[in-house]
Amino acid sequence: MLSRYLTRARPLQRSTSRPFSSTNPNMVKVLAVLYRGGQAAQEEPRLLGTIENQLGLADWLKKEGHELVVTDDKEGSSSEFQKHLADTEILITTPFHPGYLTADLIDKAKNLKLCVTAGVGSDHIDLNAANTKKITVAEVSGSNVVSVAEHVVMSILLLVRNFVPAHEQIVSDDWNVAQIARNAYDLEGKVVGTVGCGRIGYRVLQRLQGFNCKDLLWFDYTDLPPDAEKAINARRVKDLEEMVSKCDVVTINCPLHEKTRGLFNDDLISKMKPGSWLVNTARGAICDRAAVKRALESGHLRGYAGDVWDVQPAPKDHPWRHAFNPLGGGNGMVPHYSGTTLDAQKRYADGTKEIIRRYLAGEDQDLANLIVFDGDYASKAYGQREKNANKPTGQKGAG
Ligand code: NAI
Repeated sequence: MLSRYLTRARPLQRSTSRPFSSTNPNMVKVLAVLYRGGQAAQEEPRLLGTIENQLGLADWLKKEGHELVVTDDKEGSSSEFQKHLADTEILITTPFHPGYLTADLIDKAKNLKLCVTAGVGSDHIDLNAANTKKITVAEVSGSNVVSVAEHVVMSILLLVRNFVPAHEQIVSDDWNVAQIARNAYDLEGKVVGTVGCGRIGYRVLQRLQGFNCKDLLWFDYTDLPPDAEKAINARRVKDLEEMVSKCDVVTINCPLHEKTRGLFNDDLISKMKPGSWLVNTARGAICDRAAVKRALESGHLRGYAGDVWDVQPAPKDHPWRHAFNPLGGGNGMVPHYSGTTLDAQKRYADGTKEIIRRYLAGEDQDLANLIVFDGDYASKAYGQREKNANKPTGQKGAG
């Protein structure tokens, strides 16, 4: 039944659409859009996700006779990304410095067969357009979910405990306990809810077990296996507004898709408990940037934290850089790095190589990595669709 969704990459034969190389007729052009690491990447070779260290793919692809182009230049029609896309067969992108693959660009990428997301989250690709063109989109599922779950727990704590302003006092040679303590709380006894209970959301709830929260809640259209649900002692709430109205802390852990873009707007935020905290490490565009700023500045939100922005890199004047609650705190924003720890980079670099290796060898892909395949969604994590009701979503439970 599921075999229909196993990708059989086309055999390693010279396709008519592939650019001809006299030295290697099977030569494949691979384009990778990664972030610039600069001095840090030269000093730290484990920064694999950078243009300098090229996901560790360069020697292997060269030895196999393929072409690898790596760039961080991704915006506009004269960017290296758009120039090379025209004859690229395999595109590697990363959510940390997203090469936005729009429907227009997909239309121009006549040779494109496979998009690999080095990490998790393929919303920077127009997935509907990829389906139309039968381009396979694969992620390295699970590669950085622990990294993000840890960051979520850290962000919850730093907001609830008012950590950032306290630390800022120290580095600015100040000392005012009351000014910090007036807005610092314990996580114990609070209600925490996750929007999305897939790999990351589930792991967040797992990691919160020791904090004696009053209630752990989750909202997702996908069921958890009964044993996994029991193991985290959390309660499912079937209505999102109802869940957010009960929470002291809401953490967002679902993908960005048609139904989640702008989900946290003025209306939904107004349903949240006054003085609650919101953590978003999923995707910036799930939250309305102006609505978050308004809610934070009014004090309706006591804090907002995360590492994802609605455009990346975030411009200097992005409102989330300088939005604070009325007491001058509540901002836990950082650049997009929660899923790109050195541990995570090794996992998603290895996973990217494996996806490409299977494609080149004509082997089936791991079902868990497929997002779109053969003109259809291969995962049900990117929105509820009748046709994909029986497809896999985030690996539930501790697996
Ligand atoms: P997953 O696919 O394991 O789980 C996602 C869950 O969200 C699924 O259970 C799905 O049913 C649910 N979902 C989808 N739409 C929903 C909606 N409207 N309401 C409630 N639930 C909904 O994905 P995983 O690994 O947990 O990752 C989730 C997202 O986290 C990724 O798509 C990505 O956007 C983000 N992420 C961020 C990273 C970072 O560095 N900040 C790194 C990795 C992922």
